[in-house]
Amino acid sequence: MSPAAPYPTLIQALRTETAELHVALEKRLPFFSQQLDLDLYRRLMVAYYGFYQPLEQRLHALALAGLDQPLRVKLPVLRADLTALGLDEAAIEALPLCSELPVIDSRAAALGVSYVLEGATLGGQILRRRVAEQLGLDASSGAAFLNVYGELTGRRWKDFLEYLGDRNLGDGQTLEVTHAAKTTFICFERWLDSQEVLL
Ligand code: HEM
Repeated sequence: MSPAAPYPTLIQALRTETAELHVALEKRLPFFSQQLDLDLYRRLMVAYYGFYQPLEQRLHALALAGLDQPLRVKLPVLRADLTALGLDEAAIEALPLCSELPVIDSRAAALGVSYVLEGATLGGQILRRRVAEQLGLDASSGAAFLNVYGELTGRRWKDFLEYLGDRNLGDGQTLEVTHAAKTTFICFERWLDSQEVLL
């Protein structure tokens, strides 16, 4: 790999293909809205749970050799936030779960989904600050998920990009990866919309 292009085409393809979907979703998420209060934040995290719970389960059923997947499980932290926000075990178990999810039937698809879930930890850094300022929440009071990797956020992202950069995929597989990433954004937005937490 040349120093000028540390991450070759797969990451570029993912960025190009998902940029618009990211902007669209970011605009509709209510984190920076004046409407953001504790109740809306709780409903938002409940909706996140409904998506991450089934998706992460499917994602981790398919091993990506060489990636530190067990360290990237985010669901227990999200669950702990819901508990801190006042939901008990029974309430969490009864939450609605999304059933229209990206299909993860190959490692390529798993990579695409992982790109979206890993990348979301970057924006989480901004959202964490906003939620602290607006609602006074921190990692112990319901906002741990937004900072799920803590000070390792940058390191984990860099490792993930290196992992992507080391895959030698052909055009067909690259297409599978970007398709899965796009589908993840689309399914997430639809699900959040159906849960009435978007602007
Ligand atoms: C209001 C909500 C959001 C904001 C303000 C936001 C903001 C950002 C920012 C600033 C970055 C770039 C960070 C950096 O380069 O260090 C980023 C990257 C990213 N975000 Fe978000 N984000 C939001 C929500 C989301 C959500 C919900 C997802 C997916 C579920 C997501 C997926 C990604 C991905 C995949 C990247 C990596 C892009 C790349 O560099 O390849 N973001 N976000």
